[in-house]
Amino acid sequence: MTDNAVLSIKGLNKTMGKKHILHDIDMECFGGEVFGFLGPNGAGKTTTIKIVVGLLQLDSGEILIDGKNIIKDFEGAMSNVGGIVENPEMYKYLTGMENLRQYARMREGVTEERINEVVELVKLSNRINDKVSKYSLGMRQRLGVAQAILHKPKLLILDEPTNGLDPQGIKELRDVLKELAHKENTCVVVSSHLMSEMEMMCDRVGIIANGKMIGAYTMEELISQSDSSMAEYVLEVDEPEKALEHIVLADEGKKLDKETGLITLSIPVDIEKNKIASINKALCMADIKLYTVHRKENKKLEDVFIELTGDTEGDGQIG
Ligand SMILES: Nc1ncnc2c1ncn2[C@@H]1O[C@H](COP(=O)(O)OP(=O)(O)OP(=O)(O)O)[C@@H](O)[C@H]1O
Ligand SMILES: [Mg+2]
Repeated sequence: MTDNAVLSIKGLNKTMGKKHILHDIDMECFGGEVFGFLGPNGAGKTTTIKIVVGLLQLDSGEILIDGKNIIKDFEGAMSNVGGIVENPEMYKYLTGMENLRQYARMREGVTEERINEVVELVKLSNRINDKVSKYSLGMRQRLGVAQAILHKPKLLILDEPTNGLDPQGIKELRDVLKELAHKENTCVVVSSHLMSEMEMMCDRVGIIANGKMIGAYTMEELISQSDSSMAEYVLEVDEPEKALEHIVLADEGKKLDKETGLITLSIPVDIEKNKIASINKALCMADIKLYTVHRKENKKLEDVFIELTGDTEGDGQIG
């Protein structure tokens, strides 16, 4: 990563009709990284991306692409953007190569050498002379990426590129995008609503919900949140308030949901069995009836995402 962001978004706001869709979006993405722009349906991903690629105008805020302001120097900024919003456009009755040549004519300075380089990069060398109508969805998606990077943009931005792809197709696209980021030092931004896909593909993710940015995290930060060394138990008892007093655990390790009367305990996994046995004994001794004990599944990455996006008023701090 370099110090200077390839894509810098500051205080971006957008209203459409009467709806305030984007609220003060801040985001920075760097050369050499695959950045996941992650958020549930309707979060504002496509709107943000359309503004970045110049398909929509912003209301307020500042967007710099490779340091160039998209309002003050639209052409300069756009010369460094390659993007696919919705489906990549191509002629199905032409071959992959013919499509690329067609596209290259619209861009200045794309050499034959660059076309061949790009074909290699997107791993279409042995199918590039087949008609696009014979391509799988994954191959079309990769040809779309090839078109978008012909002019060697510093920023490649793709809106939900994995939509409709099978796991193999996702893997192939992921390999191409990682190589592009890590070999050509491109800043690759991909949007998605699926944490599981971002996990495989990205170095960092920025999470958006209800038009507000929750935060940006490295995959390691998120994984350390999910890969918990704590086990969670839910207890159902007849006298929850009294039970809490008899459970020997740090205060943050025991919580009572006043509505349901259920007690949730967080116990380090290495002592969980002994701890549960001693809690059971303590409750028995205090004459509290223990009806059920349920051990919850460890928190998965998807749960971390749901927790982060569930509270859009929150500060997005993890840990
Ligand atoms: N032209 C429009 N006029 C009014 N509201 C719009 C318009 N386009 C989008 N919206 C609203 O803006 C919000 C954000 O939409 P956007 O398409 O950016 O979300 P998204 O994150 O891309 O969602 P998805 O995962 O479904 O693609 C939604 O509530 C949507 O209904
Ligand atoms: Mg969208």
